[in-house]
Amino acid sequence: MPDVTVSITFDLISPFKNNQNYQFFEGVVNISATATNEKKVYSVVGQEELGAFPLLTKEEAGQAIEKAKQAQKYWEEEEVYKRAEILHAWADKLLENQAQIGDMIMKEVGKNKSSAWKEVARTADLIRYTAEEGCRIHGDLLRGDSFKGGSSNKIAMAERAPRGVILAISPFNYPVNLAASKIAPALISGNAVIFKPASQGTLSGKLMIDALLETELPADVVHCVTGKGSEIGDYLVTHPDISMITFTGSTEVGQSISEKAKMIPVVLELGGKDPAIVLKNADLDLAASQIVSGAFSYSGQRCTAIKRVLVDNAVADELTSKIKKKVDELTVGNPEEEAAVTPLIDEKAADFVQGLIDDALENGASLVTGNQREENLIYPTLLDNVTPGMKVAYEEPFGPVLPIIRVSDEADFVELANESEYGLQASIFTNNVQTAMNIGSKLNVGSVQLNAKTERGPDHFPFIGSKNSGLGAQGIRRSIESMTRDKLFIMNV
Ligand code: G3H
Repeated sequence: MPDVTVSITFDLISPFKNNQNYQFFEGVVNISATATNEKKVYSVVGQEELGAFPLLTKEEAGQAIEKAKQAQKYWEEEEVYKRAEILHAWADKLLENQAQIGDMIMKEVGKNKSSAWKEVARTADLIRYTAEEGCRIHGDLLRGDSFKGGSSNKIAMAERAPRGVILAISPFNYPVNLAASKIAPALISGNAVIFKPASQGTLSGKLMIDALLETELPADVVHCVTGKGSEIGDYLVTHPDISMITFTGSTEVGQSISEKAKMIPVVLELGGKDPAIVLKNADLDLAASQIVSGAFSYSGQRCTAIKRVLVDNAVADELTSKIKKKVDELTVGNPEEEAAVTPLIDEKAADFVQGLIDDALENGASLVTGNQREENLIYPTLLDNVTPGMKVAYEEPFGPVLPIIRVSDEADFVELANESEYGLQASIFTNNVQTAMNIGSKLNVGSVQLNAKTERGPDHFPFIGSKNSGLGAQGIRRSIESMTRDKLFIMNV
């Protein structure tokens, strides 16, 4: 190592350092923008008018991107600890407004009240961890003489640099949490954000952004861009000033984004068909309670919901009866009254789920319980003797229907589990860890859960989907990594 002392002084052009008030960029940051058209949002239950959001034109969306691009230049120069302080302040504001935001989530996407309020608290925790994790992102220092023929005069300092403007597209089912899980890592690592919420979920997302704008976040670093996907979707995805896209939603849209986004990184969290594999030596009470919670919470409208049960024939009757008992105990109805199973997001979603149930019954599946419908409310439905050829065995319902597939040969578990276009997660229920490891190692999924339901959290765990379930990885640290790139400063001394 050469004997060298380096002293570098950075001349930061920072709004914070200059103690100015971020009046660099004209225009508004929030979603009121200048749009003339708007779309009204109604509650899932009761069709109460909750508010409206503007339908931006391409030109208006383009203006937001331009402002974000300019603001990012200042934001990336801000000290990381200051960015972290802003994120902590955001988390504080979210908790201060937990009731208002939680109630909006409950009404706008039909999630029961306690889950909706928990989503806000979980998001505050996620933001805080992200702020702290961002302060612990370090680069590398590499010596040139550790490579044959390299030079001892060279030292490379590799840092993680922000990518620029991140396009964050969030789904309806976690309108706050799955938005913040994209926005917070982008911000802590010095990026600006164009946030495109799902239409049903926009008002909850807006309240979350309002909380962020109450902090010292400089103007224009985050823009909430709302509108019809058909009008501005492709425009956003293909815009030359978007440096990276992070999306959660359907596989169909995810695939389209991945095809259209050229030469920029894309992280996708898409659909799933997570199996619960129940072996004959499993604790069946534990399996039944985890399966019911995993399959039916938020009415199955989760990418990580358990969407099929593969059970050893030897214990299938017993497991089915335990699952049925628990399904019959689920409360059904209004999110405000804490029902476990609530109406689906819209009629199209309910029609789709009903179609899967009808198809299975027409093709020989046995109805164990459920198959009742009141408008968009589908009662939790359990189907037994489902065979791999039935649609409900391989399509993602995103609703409260659970097929049971009986397996007579243990060797078939892996093949059946992998017989899916999806590869998000899988659960294995057994009292034999070695067997679980053997099966788990052969499953083509992002994560395997032993003796527990499939789920994303805790939110600092890597969250990965293989096959049509996703691309890249999320989870707080992985998200920060995906939103930054290596940048080298090579000292030649
Ligand atoms: O819907 C997709 C979400 O990432 C699922 O998250 O497992 O915490 O419900 P969750």
